[in-house]
Amino acid sequence: MLKVGLVGCGYWGPKLARNFHELPETELAWVCDFRQDRLDHLKALYPQVQATRDYTEMLASDVEAVVIATPVRAHHPLALAALRAGKHVLIEKPLAGSVKEAEEIVAEGERAGRVVMVGHTFEYNPAVETMRKIITDGELGDVYYINATRVNLGLFQPDINVMWDLAPHDVSLLMFALGLSPTEVSARGAIYVRPHSGLHEVVYLTLYFPNNVLADIRVSWLDPCKIRRCTVVGSKKMLVYDDIADDKILLYDKGVDIPPYSDTLEEFHLSYRTGEGIPYPVPWSEPLRGECRHFAECIATGQRPRSDGLDGLRVVKVLDMAQRSLINGGAREVLAW
Ligand SMILES: NC(=O)c1ccc[n+]([C@@H]2O[C@H](COP(=O)([O-])OP(=O)(O)OC[C@H]3O[C@@H](n4cnc5c(N)ncnc54)[C@H](O)[C@@H]3O)[C@@H](O)[C@H]2O)c1
Repeated sequence: MLKVGLVGCGYWGPKLARNFHELPETELAWVCDFRQDRLDHLKALYPQVQATRDYTEMLASDVEAVVIATPVRAHHPLALAALRAGKHVLIEKPLAGSVKEAEEIVAEGERAGRVVMVGHTFEYNPAVETMRKIITDGELGDVYYINATRVNLGLFQPDINVMWDLAPHDVSLLMFALGLSPTEVSARGAIYVRPHSGLHEVVYLTLYFPNNVLADIRVSWLDPCKIRRCTVVGSKKMLVYDDIADDKILLYDKGVDIPPYSDTLEEFHLSYRTGEGIPYPVPWSEPLRGECRHFAECIATGQRPRSDGLDGLRVVKVLDMAQRSLINGGAREVLAW
C-alpha cells in the first residue's frame, strides 16, 4: 500500500482524497490544509486519516507520496520541500506559475530520483485517449484545424487569470492527442467584472502546430452555458468530442473533395460528403481515478508518468508565451523547445 499525503483540501483536493482512499493500491494516510474546517471535513469522511495544519509534520511522517492541490502559487515551494524530503509528488495543473519554477521542480525531481507527475487529468480521460487513437490511426486523414471551447459562469480565481485556470486542460489534451507541440502561440482577452485585478476573464488562445495544424481555444468564466467541446476537422472525417454529452465522441463522414482535374468551370464542382455524426464507442471510467492509479503504478514500477514533470513544463511554457502575447495585444510569440 502506497501511503499518500494530500496538501490542499479545498474544492479539488477532496476528489483526489476520495480516489486515493478508494484505490486498493493506495492509502490516504495524511491530509494537510491551513484551514481547520477543511481538515474537519476530511476527518469526518475518513476518520483514520492523520490531519495537520503543519506541512513539515506531514513531510516528517512515513508518507511516500505527496499530492499537491493548493492554488498554483504554492505548487513550487510545496513540491520542492516534498522532493527534498524524499517524497514522490503529484502536482495539480498547472505545474507551476512560471517556467523557472516549473524547471526547478523538474530538476529537483531528477536530482532526488523521485516521480514528478502533473495532474493533467484530461490525458487520462478515456474520450481523449480515444480521440488520440482516432487521430493517430489516420481515421480523420490529415488534421486541418481544431476548435476547443471551455466556458461557463465559472469560479473567479483570486490570483490567476482564466487562461492559467482552464487552458492547461486544453493545451495538454491537444498536445497529447496530436502528439505535437505548438511552435507559435497568440492570445487575446478581456477583463470586465474585476477591472483592477489585471486578470483576464475571457481569453481566445491560438496555437500554431507543425504541419499547418491550427488550434483555437476559447476559455471564459463569463458564459451563460457550460460548454466543454472540441471539434477536430480532418481531410477525411471530422470529430466532435463533447465532455458533458452522453455520446462523448461523434465521428462525421463530412468533408469537401476537389475533383482531380476539370477543363471548364462548369465541370468544376466541389464534392461534399454530408454524413451524420455517428457515436464512437468510448469505454468510460473516471479520468481522475486513472490518473491516481497511474501515479501509484509509476512509483511502484519506476516508469515515467504520461504527464511527467517535462509535460507539465511544456504546458507552462505555452501558457507563459501566451501570457506575453496577451499583454502584447495578441502578437504571435515563437516557442523555442
Ligand atoms: N485537474 C482538474 O480538473 C482540476 C480541477 C480544479 C482545480 N484543479 C487544481 O487544483 C488546485 C487547487 O484548486 P482548488 O480549486 O481546489 O483551490 P481551493 O482554493 O478551493 O483550495 C485550495 C486549498 O489549499 C489550501 N492551501 C493553500 N496553500 C496551502 C499551503 N501552503 N499549505 C496547506 N494548505 C494550503 C487552502 O487553504 C485551500 O483549502 C489548483 O492547482 C487547480 O488548478 C484541478
